[in-house]
Amino acid sequence: MADVEVYGKMLSTLPDDDDHPYRSGAWRPQNVEYDADDLRVEGELPADLYGVYLRNTENPLHPAIVRYHPFDGDGMIHKVSFRDGKVSYRNRFVRTDGLLAEQEAGRSLWAGLAENPNASARADGWGARGRMKDAASTDVIVHAGVAVASFYQCGDLYRLDPLTLDDLGKCSWGGSFPGDRGVSAHTKVDDHTGELLFFNYSTTAPYLHYGVVDAGDHLVHYVPVDLPGPRLPHDMAFTEHYAILNDMPLFWEPDLIARGLYAARYHPELPSRLGVIPRRGGTGDIRWFEFDPTYVLHWTNAWEEGDEVVVDGFFQGCPEPSAAGPGGPDGRMWRFLAQDAMQTRLHRWRMNLVTGATSEQDLSEACTEFGTINSGFGGRPYRYTYAATNEPGWFLFNGLVKHDTLTGREESYQFEPGVFCSEVGVAPRVGGTGEDDAYLVTLTVDMNRDLSECVVFRAGDVGRGPIARAQLPERIASGSHSCWAPGDSLRGWA
Ligand SMILES: [Fe+2]
Repeated sequence: MADVEVYGKMLSTLPDDDDHPYRSGAWRPQNVEYDADDLRVEGELPADLYGVYLRNTENPLHPAIVRYHPFDGDGMIHKVSFRDGKVSYRNRFVRTDGLLAEQEAGRSLWAGLAENPNASARADGWGARGRMKDAASTDVIVHAGVAVASFYQCGDLYRLDPLTLDDLGKCSWGGSFPGDRGVSAHTKVDDHTGELLFFNYSTTAPYLHYGVVDAGDHLVHYVPVDLPGPRLPHDMAFTEHYAILNDMPLFWEPDLIARGLYAARYHPELPSRLGVIPRRGGTGDIRWFEFDPTYVLHWTNAWEEGDEVVVDGFFQGCPEPSAAGPGGPDGRMWRFLAQDAMQTRLHRWRMNLVTGATSEQDLSEACTEFGTINSGFGGRPYRYTYAATNEPGWFLFNGLVKHDTLTGREESYQFEPGVFCSEVGVAPRVGGTGEDDAYLVTLTVDMNRDLSECVVFRAGDVGRGPIARAQLPERIASGSHSCWAPGDSLRGWA
């Protein structure tokens, strides 16, 4: 295997004058890995902010075979740690099998999301549709003290040291990792039990699996879930006793799949279905509940309330954007990335496990998505979610909204034009007990000053804006998901 880096610089074959909308501007990829200790901080750095913020971003190293989609870019994890009044930063590519193979070849070997899999130079690959590169670029969480990067189309789970971002290899789960199907992004960690809940999906039956990994990182549960056909679940939810899976009426057309084409189509004549399964339940234990048709990219939380299971997430008023609009087919592809085009709004679904009754309601009229919570309240009753507003037409976040789901009150912060943030991490204040006795941590892409900062908000006073900021060594690319992990949850922190 050839070296993948030279003097710390990842070799890129992208042209310098790239004008692809998601490989330039606020999405300009990085290819340098930095170690920066003791960043200079402006403002009041809280002494009780103690842990790491991890962020996954897409940074392609090679031109696409045909057409680039931002979800194809190689995963790069950014880490900002807060400890003893100091802020340090590192970024590292995830050393995926696909990245290493393409670095050796010096070009892309796999067709991306916007391309026909037959365009791939390799017959093998990853992903629910097959012949894709697992870029490990979608999500990052911490489980069993280690950072874990994942890919939305299913693939391996890549482990990184949460402090150094050193490559720790793939999850094996005691030798039981379901390598034939892989695992989807949006694995869920229950802080109360240390368990990791996950799912995968496929175009061949069984179309969905659900599983549990224990706090010791061993697979302890894995069951097929019956679905009427291939589906495209992106996220799942959990409560203290149940996992919640979904069957949404936006999916690859089965007759097109048979011809090797993968086109997501919305079927408003079909209901949305949520499946509630005991966390260690079998295939026959799942109960399905029907709701208004929509598609949900992200759930914020779920919990049990009497006989009911309640789930919050982001309802889409327009899951399949119109073909008409600026930019032709590419423009439509980008509208699938823009939450204003999808008309996303915070929504609540209720399921009565005794009577079978359901109800649902919008919790907000605001167009927000990518809501994060204080993870100590995951799977339990909660009140607050911190979501993002988007730059119209773009997968870029230009502001934050704190949703109070109890009162409906919303508190917002808007970044100045040309400044974009990442999905926020919710960092409970050390010694704090209240749900919003916490800080919000995010990374900016500041196009006005050509730099990136890590900025910190008080969760109890979002409207005030950042209370502290630390400049990163280079302007980063925008990207997808992130997480906060308290110091004492991390291997090697003590
Ligand atoms: Fe996601």
